[in-house]
This record gives sequence, C-alpha cells and structure tokens, in this order.
Amino acid sequence: MSDLKHFGSFFRLDGKIALITGGSRGLGLHAATAFLLAGAKKVIITARKAGGEQGIDQAVDKLNKLPGIKGCAVGIAANVAQTEDIERLVNEVKRTDQEVDILVANAGATWGGPFEPTPDWSSQKVLDLNVRGVFNLVRLMVPLLEAAATPQDPSRVVIVSSTAGMNVPHVGEHGTIMYSVSKAAAHHLSRNLAVELGPRNITTNTVAPGFFPSKLANGLIDILGGQDQLERDNPRGRLGQPEDIAGVMVYLCSPAGSYVNGVDIALDGGARLTAGRMTKL
Ligand SMILES: NC(=O)c1ccc[n+]([C@@H]2O[C@H](COP(=O)([O-])OP(=O)(O)OC[C@H]3O[C@@H](n4cnc5c(N)ncnc54)[C@H](OP(=O)(O)O)[C@@H]3O)[C@@H](O)[C@H]2O)c1
Repeated sequence: MSDLKHFGSFFRLDGKIALITGGSRGLGLHAATAFLLAGAKKVIITARKAGGEQGIDQAVDKLNKLPGIKGCAVGIAANVAQTEDIERLVNEVKRTDQEVDILVANAGATWGGPFEPTPDWSSQKVLDLNVRGVFNLVRLMVPLLEAAATPQDPSRVVIVSSTAGMNVPHVGEHGTIMYSVSKAAAHHLSRNLAVELGPRNITTNTVAPGFFPSKLANGLIDILGGQDQLERDNPRGRLGQPEDIAGVMVYLCSPAGSYVNGVDIALDGGARLTAGRMTKL
C-alpha cells in the first residue's frame, strides 16, 4: 500500500479564489459552476457586458443559487483585450482580495471568412483578445497569484485555447486562419509561462476544446452541416458537454493537478486526429 496523502480532497477546491474571464456564458460559465461545486470560496467572473440575457449579472445570480455551495460568485465587467481595462480589473480584485489561486484565461474571439478580403480589424480583434490580452492579464495577475502560491500547492493559470491551435481546421470561404494562428500562439504562450512562472510556484496549462455548442461556436457548427453531422465525424460520437470542460478544469486546478505544468489537454473526443471529412474519401 502507498500512503496517498489527502486523497479525499484530490479533486476539491475548498477555500480557493478563482478569476475566470468570459465567465458569463459558455465554457467560462461551466468552469465557474464546477469551481463553486468543488468548494471554491469565491469565483470572480468577468466579461464585457454586465446586464442583459447573457451578461455577468444573470450569470452571478444563477451561480449563487447553486445548491450546497459554500462560496460565492461575483462579477466585474472588463474588456480583457484592452490593457487599461485589465489593469482596472486587477485593481478592483485587489480591493477585496490580496491573493488569487486560479486564473482561467477563457475569453476568446473568432472571425471567419475568405482569405484575401479579410478586414484588418478582425485580425487585430482576434490577436488582441486571444494572445496579447492573455499575456497582459497573466503578467498583471502574477502578484496576486504568487501571494497564494506555495511549493506544495501552486497557483494555477489555465489558458483556454482550441484544437484549432493544433491543426488547420478551416480554410476557404469560412476560413478561420487568424483564429487558428492566435490559438497556436496561446499554446506556446502557455508553455513559455510554465517555464517562466513554474519556479514562482505558478503552473500554466492549456485546455484546447473541440466543438462545444456555444454562442461563439454555433454559427460555425451550422456552416459545417450542423451538430448531427459533426457528431458523426467525431470518434466519440458527440460534441463537448459542460461536464467535459468541468472535469478537466477541476483536475488542473485541484491538488490532483499540482505537478502538471506546460501541457496541452485536447478536449475534443479525438476529432482533431481524424483530418475531418478526408477520412471518408
Ligand atoms: N465553444 C467551442 O466550441 C470552442 C471550441 C474551441 C475553443 N473555444 C474557446 O473557448 C473559449 C470560450 O468560448 P465559448 O464558446 O464559451 O464562447 P462564448 O459562449 O461566446 O463566451 C465567450 C465569453 O467571453 C466573453 N468575452 C468575449 N470577448 C471579451 C472581451 N474582449 N473581454 C472580456 N470578455 C469577453 C463573453 O462575454 P461578453 O460578450 O459580454 O464580453 C463571454 O462571457 C474561447 O477562448 C474560445 O476560443 C470554444
């Protein structure tokens, strides 16, 4: 028998404080839900819109009504593509909390269209949020993350990338070249941060989802033939579900993931390996 210390809390986040960008809907909201259910003390979600059907306020209300949670959700509106707004966000967090254990850089933007007419603003938007904004957010959050970190229990950075950063998913009429490039950069940013921040007791890892139905993904899912078609193309016969992202996030951020640093976890049922519809030729 081995003496596995604290096995009962391997997948718990009791007492932890997390900041999740893009937490008002989609994958960020799934992660926020999972963190609270796993015992987190506080989950701070951020997005640009506070009000409305998909804004932060409704998400915070729903999160705080989760049954059995001991922690709470709070929201701070911020545009994490803009450095000044990231600075304001970090300063607002500092007003209430001197340390943050977990940072999930999840907010992302995509743009699709044919190659040559690509408007320059679209490349700027995608790169500013998916790469430059993540770099600046982590950089400015380091003091708070370092304050919470210990050698035994490092603070965690999780960057939500995409399998589009590992392959070339869509070219042509609905091409997503700059999105794919931005996500490849996010993967490599994560590896650099793993080496830069590891000695300061902060781990950095990447989660690369395949298709999960969401506001961001639904348009492309329709263009590619709809959910049924994509499910048939997927080795696991389905698209991603909230529980899939919840499980990986809790693993990476809990004691079970404390020695994992600089990895990419593809979360796509194996779809990235099938070379799309070419397998049917
Ligand atoms: N769903 C998928 O199939 C899929 C696949 C691969 C990768 N991903 C990645 O997963 C992440 C989340 O995507 P999702 O599908 O959950 O998208 P989503 O449902 O559209 O949610 C995006 C979230 O990000 C926020 N956001 C967007 N721009 C922002 C900005 N500039 N500053 C702050 N917050 C911003 C949105 O709120 P506001 O609009 O109010 O700002 C929202 O909370 C992205 O990085 C995406 O690239 C998703």
